[in-house]
Amino acid sequence: MDRKISFIGVGPGDPDLLTIKALKKIESADVIFWADSLIPEKIINFSSVSSEKIKTSGLTLERITSIMIKRFNEGKIVIRLHDGDPCLYGAVKEQIDILNQENIETEVIPGVSAFQVAAAYHQAELTIPEITQTIILSRAGGRTGMPEKESLQNLARHKSSLCLYLSARHIKSSQKTLLEFYPPETKVIVGYRASWDDGWTEIIELKDMEKFTLEKELIRTTIYIISPAINAITNRSNLYSPSYKHLFRNK
Ligand SMILES: C[S@@+](CC[C@H](N)C(=O)[O-])C[C@H]1O[C@@H](n2cnc3c(N)ncnc32)[C@H](O)[C@@H]1O
Repeated sequence: MDRKISFIGVGPGDPDLLTIKALKKIESADVIFWADSLIPEKIINFSSVSSEKIKTSGLTLERITSIMIKRFNEGKIVIRLHDGDPCLYGAVKEQIDILNQENIETEVIPGVSAFQVAAAYHQAELTIPEITQTIILSRAGGRTGMPEKESLQNLARHKSSLCLYLSARHIKSSQKTLLEFYPPETKVIVGYRASWDDGWTEIIELKDMEKFTLEKELIRTTIYIISPAINAITNRSNLYSPSYKHLFRNK
Protein backbone atom coordinates (compact mmCIF):
# COMPACT_ATOMS: atom_id res chain seq x y z
CA MET A 1 0.00 0.00 0.00
CA ASP A 2 1.09 3.54 -0.81
CA ARG A 3 1.57 4.94 2.72
CA LYS A 4 2.02 8.67 3.33
CA ILE A 5 1.66 11.26 6.05
CA SER A 6 -0.96 13.81 4.96
CA PHE A 7 -0.74 17.53 5.71
CA ILE A 8 -4.30 18.75 5.50
CA GLY A 9 -5.69 22.26 5.21
CA VAL A 10 -8.94 22.30 7.19
CA GLY A 11 -10.07 25.80 6.28
CA PRO A 12 -10.63 28.88 8.46
CA GLY A 13 -12.80 27.27 11.15
CA ASP A 14 -16.30 26.41 9.92
CA PRO A 15 -16.40 22.59 9.63
CA ASP A 16 -18.72 22.94 6.60
CA LEU A 17 -15.78 24.46 4.73
CA LEU A 18 -13.75 21.26 4.99
CA THR A 19 -13.16 19.55 1.66
CA ILE A 20 -14.60 16.06 1.27
CA LYS A 21 -11.06 14.77 0.92
CA ALA A 22 -10.03 16.38 4.23
CA LEU A 23 -13.09 14.98 5.97
CA LYS A 24 -12.40 11.43 4.73
CA LYS A 25 -8.80 11.65 5.91
CA ILE A 26 -9.82 12.91 9.36
CA GLU A 27 -12.41 10.13 9.71
CA SER A 28 -9.94 7.40 8.84
CA ALA A 29 -6.85 8.61 10.75
CA ASP A 30 -5.32 6.78 13.70
CA VAL A 31 -3.15 9.70 14.82
CA ILE A 32 -4.08 13.36 14.35
CA PHE A 33 -1.72 16.24 14.98
CA TRP A 34 -3.58 19.54 15.08
CA ALA A 35 -2.75 23.20 15.52
CA ASP A 36 -5.14 23.60 18.45
CA SER A 37 -4.87 27.38 18.74
CA LEU A 38 -6.14 27.83 15.18
CA ILE A 39 -8.47 24.87 14.61
CA PRO A 40 -11.81 24.50 16.41
CA GLU A 41 -12.54 21.33 18.36
CA LYS A 42 -15.60 20.76 16.13
CA ILE A 43 -13.28 19.66 13.34
CA ILE A 44 -11.49 17.15 15.53
CA ASN A 45 -14.86 15.73 16.51
CA PHE A 46 -15.13 14.19 13.04
CA SER A 47 -12.32 11.82 13.96
CA SER A 48 -12.77 8.36 15.37
CA VAL A 49 -13.08 8.23 19.19
CA SER A 50 -10.23 5.76 19.28
CA SER A 51 -7.82 8.02 17.38
CA GLU A 52 -4.89 9.63 19.15
CA LYS A 53 -5.23 13.42 19.05
CA ILE A 54 -2.07 15.43 19.59
CA LYS A 55 -2.14 19.20 20.11
CA THR A 56 0.87 20.85 18.53
CA SER A 57 0.78 24.32 20.08
CA GLY A 58 3.05 23.33 22.98
CA LEU A 59 5.42 21.05 21.02
CA THR A 60 8.66 21.69 19.16
CA LEU A 61 9.28 20.67 15.54
CA GLU A 62 11.60 17.89 16.74
CA ARG A 63 9.00 16.51 19.14
CA ILE A 64 6.19 16.65 16.57
CA THR A 65 8.19 14.93 13.84
CA SER A 66 9.68 12.31 16.16
CA ILE A 67 6.18 11.23 17.31
CA MET A 68 4.98 11.31 13.69
CA ILE A 69 7.83 9.04 12.60
CA LYS A 70 7.29 6.64 15.51
CA ARG A 71 3.56 6.29 14.92
CA PHE A 72 3.98 5.99 11.16
CA ASN A 73 6.56 3.21 11.63
CA GLU A 74 4.11 1.43 13.92
CA GLY A 75 1.82 1.19 10.87
CA LYS A 76 -0.62 3.94 11.95
CA ILE A 77 -2.41 6.35 9.61
CA VAL A 78 -0.90 9.70 10.60
CA ILE A 79 -2.28 13.10 9.56
CA ARG A 80 -1.36 16.66 10.41
CA LEU A 81 -4.05 19.37 10.34
CA HIS A 82 -3.29 22.98 9.52
CA ASP A 83 -5.73 25.87 9.59
CA GLY A 84 -6.68 27.43 6.27
CA ASP A 85 -4.42 26.26 3.47
CA PRO A 86 -1.08 24.71 4.47
CA CYS A 87 0.85 26.70 1.87
CA LEU A 88 0.27 29.92 3.79
CA TYR A 89 2.29 30.43 6.97
CA GLY A 90 1.84 26.78 7.85
CA ALA A 91 5.51 25.90 8.53
CA VAL A 92 4.88 22.66 6.63
CA LYS A 93 8.11 22.54 4.66
CA GLU A 94 10.31 21.98 7.70
CA GLN A 95 8.13 19.04 8.76
CA ILE A 96 7.98 17.56 5.26
CA ASP A 97 11.77 17.85 4.86
CA ILE A 98 12.40 15.88 8.07
CA LEU A 99 9.90 13.17 7.13
CA ASN A 100 11.25 12.87 3.59
CA GLN A 101 14.78 12.51 5.00
CA GLU A 102 13.43 9.50 6.89
CA ASN A 103 12.10 8.16 3.56
CA ILE A 104 8.52 8.79 4.64
CA GLU A 105 6.30 9.97 1.81
CA THR A 106 4.08 12.99 2.36
CA GLU A 107 1.20 14.75 0.63
CA VAL A 108 -0.59 18.08 1.06
CA ILE A 109 -4.38 18.48 0.83
CA PRO A 110 -5.40 22.10 0.17
CA GLY A 111 -7.96 24.03 2.23
CA VAL A 112 -9.88 27.31 2.14
CA SER A 113 -7.70 30.15 3.36
CA ALA A 114 -8.74 32.93 5.75
CA PHE A 115 -8.78 35.63 3.06
CA GLN A 116 -11.22 33.61 0.97
CA VAL A 117 -13.81 33.22 3.70
CA ALA A 118 -13.53 36.90 4.69
CA ALA A 119 -14.01 38.00 1.06
CA ALA A 120 -16.90 35.56 0.58
CA TYR A 121 -18.77 36.86 3.63
CA HIS A 122 -18.89 40.28 1.98
CA GLN A 123 -19.45 38.89 -1.53
CA ALA A 124 -16.29 40.74 -2.53
CA GLU A 125 -14.63 40.14 -5.88
CA LEU A 126 -10.98 41.09 -5.36
CA THR A 127 -10.06 41.10 -9.06
CA ILE A 128 -12.27 43.62 -10.85
CA PRO A 129 -11.20 44.58 -14.40
CA GLU A 130 -9.64 48.04 -14.70
CA ILE A 131 -9.48 48.35 -10.88
CA THR A 132 -7.16 45.54 -9.88
CA GLN A 133 -6.37 42.13 -11.29
CA THR A 134 -3.93 41.17 -8.57
CA ILE A 135 -4.19 39.84 -5.03
CA ILE A 136 -1.16 40.04 -2.77
CA LEU A 137 -1.09 37.73 0.24
CA SER A 138 1.42 38.87 2.82
CA ARG A 139 2.06 39.98 6.37
CA ALA A 140 3.24 43.21 7.94
CA GLY A 141 6.68 42.67 9.45
CA GLY A 142 6.88 40.53 12.54
CA ARG A 143 9.39 38.14 14.00
CA THR A 144 9.63 35.91 10.95
CA GLY A 145 12.22 37.10 8.41
CA MET A 146 10.54 39.48 6.01
CA PRO A 147 12.68 40.12 2.91
CA GLU A 148 13.26 43.84 2.42
CA LYS A 149 12.02 43.67 -1.18
CA GLU A 150 8.64 42.64 0.24
CA SER A 151 8.32 45.53 2.67
CA LEU A 152 4.75 46.76 3.06
CA GLN A 153 5.80 49.90 1.24
CA ASN A 154 6.88 47.89 -1.80
CA LEU A 155 3.72 45.80 -1.80
CA ALA A 156 1.36 48.74 -1.25
CA ARG A 157 2.82 50.56 -4.25
CA HIS A 158 0.78 48.26 -6.51
CA LYS A 159 -2.50 49.43 -4.99
CA SER A 160 -3.87 45.98 -5.65
CA SER A 161 -6.03 43.87 -3.34
CA LEU A 162 -3.78 43.24 -0.37
CA CYS A 163 -4.50 40.56 2.23
CA LEU A 164 -2.53 40.86 5.46
CA TYR A 165 -2.14 37.84 7.70
CA LEU A 166 -0.57 37.89 11.17
CA SER A 167 -0.53 41.67 11.20
CA ALA A 168 -2.81 42.98 13.98
CA ARG A 169 0.15 43.80 16.23
CA HIS A 170 1.67 45.98 13.53
CA ILE A 171 -1.46 47.88 12.63
CA LYS A 172 -0.26 51.38 13.56
CA SER A 173 2.75 51.34 11.25
CA SER A 174 0.82 49.39 8.62
CA GLN A 175 -1.96 51.95 8.38
CA LYS A 176 0.58 54.76 8.12
CA THR A 177 2.40 53.01 5.27
CA LEU A 178 -0.77 51.99 3.44
CA LEU A 179 -2.10 55.57 3.54
CA GLU A 180 0.93 56.66 1.50
CA PHE A 181 -0.51 54.69 -1.41
CA TYR A 182 -4.23 53.96 -0.97
CA PRO A 183 -6.91 56.67 -0.45
CA PRO A 184 -8.10 56.94 3.19
CA GLU A 185 -11.62 55.80 2.21
CA THR A 186 -10.35 52.52 0.72
CA LYS A 187 -12.46 49.70 2.07
CA VAL A 188 -10.89 47.12 4.37
CA ILE A 189 -12.50 43.82 5.33
CA VAL A 190 -11.44 42.87 8.84
CA GLY A 191 -12.10 39.31 9.92
CA TYR A 192 -11.60 38.01 13.44
CA ARG A 193 -11.84 34.21 13.78
CA ALA A 194 -13.91 34.43 10.61
CA SER A 195 -16.30 31.46 10.33
CA TRP A 196 -15.78 30.36 13.97
CA ASP A 197 -18.88 30.41 16.20
CA ASP A 198 -17.62 33.54 17.97
CA GLY A 199 -16.04 35.10 14.87
CA TRP A 200 -17.09 38.09 12.80
CA THR A 201 -16.11 40.19 9.78
CA GLU A 202 -16.73 43.84 9.10
CA ILE A 203 -16.02 46.42 6.40
CA ILE A 204 -14.30 49.58 7.58
CA GLU A 205 -12.22 52.32 5.92
CA LEU A 206 -8.44 52.31 5.81
CA LYS A 207 -8.20 55.53 7.82
CA ASP A 208 -9.97 53.75 10.73
CA MET A 209 -8.00 50.53 10.66
CA GLU A 210 -5.75 51.24 13.64
CA LYS A 211 -8.52 52.72 15.82
CA PHE A 212 -10.85 49.81 15.03
CA THR A 213 -8.15 47.25 15.79
CA LEU A 214 -7.35 48.84 19.15
CA GLU A 215 -11.01 49.23 20.10
CA LYS A 216 -11.71 45.58 19.34
CA GLU A 217 -8.44 44.57 21.02
CA LEU A 218 -7.42 42.48 18.03
CA ILE A 219 -4.10 40.73 18.45
CA ARG A 220 -4.49 37.24 17.02
CA THR A 221 -6.44 35.39 14.30
CA THR A 222 -7.24 38.52 12.34
CA ILE A 223 -7.16 39.00 8.60
CA TYR A 224 -7.24 42.34 6.78
CA ILE A 225 -8.17 42.73 3.12
CA ILE A 226 -7.37 46.18 1.80
CA SER A 227 -8.77 46.61 -1.68
CA PRO A 228 -9.96 49.26 -4.13
CA ALA A 229 -12.25 46.54 -5.50
CA ILE A 230 -14.39 46.23 -2.36
CA ASN A 231 -17.72 47.97 -2.96
CA ALA A 232 -16.31 49.53 -6.13
CA ILE A 233 -18.70 50.88 -8.75
CA THR A 234 -17.98 48.69 -11.73
CA ASN A 235 -18.73 48.26 -15.39
CA ARG A 236 -19.83 44.85 -16.57
CA SER A 237 -17.06 42.44 -17.52
CA ASN A 238 -16.28 41.33 -21.08
CA LEU A 239 -16.73 37.72 -20.15
CA TYR A 240 -20.54 37.68 -20.35
CA SER A 241 -20.94 40.59 -22.75
CA PRO A 242 -22.92 39.83 -25.96
CA SER A 243 -20.29 41.73 -27.97
CA TYR A 244 -17.38 39.63 -26.70
CA LYS A 245 -16.83 36.26 -28.39
CA HIS A 246 -14.64 33.57 -26.90
CA LEU A 247 -13.96 29.87 -27.16
CA PHE A 248 -17.08 28.78 -25.26
CA ARG A 249 -19.48 31.32 -26.77
CA ASN A 250 -18.76 32.24 -30.37
CA LYS A 251 -22.25 33.50 -31.28
C1 LIG B 1 -0.25 30.89 10.98
S1 LIG B 1 -1.29 31.79 9.91
C2 LIG B 1 -2.01 30.48 9.00
C3 LIG B 1 -2.84 30.93 7.82
C4 LIG B 1 -3.64 29.79 7.22
N1 LIG B 1 -2.73 28.77 6.70
C5 LIG B 1 -4.59 30.22 6.13
O1 LIG B 1 -4.42 29.83 4.97
O2 LIG B 1 -5.55 30.96 6.45
C6 LIG B 1 -2.53 32.29 11.01
C7 LIG B 1 -3.10 33.62 10.59
O3 LIG B 1 -4.04 33.42 9.54
C8 LIG B 1 -5.13 34.30 9.69
N2 LIG B 1 -6.33 33.51 10.00
C9 LIG B 1 -6.42 32.17 10.03
N3 LIG B 1 -7.70 31.79 10.27
C10 LIG B 1 -8.41 32.93 10.39
C11 LIG B 1 -9.78 33.20 10.63
N4 LIG B 1 -10.67 32.23 10.79
N5 LIG B 1 -10.17 34.50 10.71
C12 LIG B 1 -9.28 35.50 10.53
N6 LIG B 1 -7.97 35.29 10.30
C13 LIG B 1 -7.54 34.03 10.22
C14 LIG B 1 -4.77 35.24 10.83
O4 LIG B 1 -4.04 36.32 10.28
C15 LIG B 1 -3.89 34.35 11.66
O5 LIG B 1 -3.06 35.11 12.51
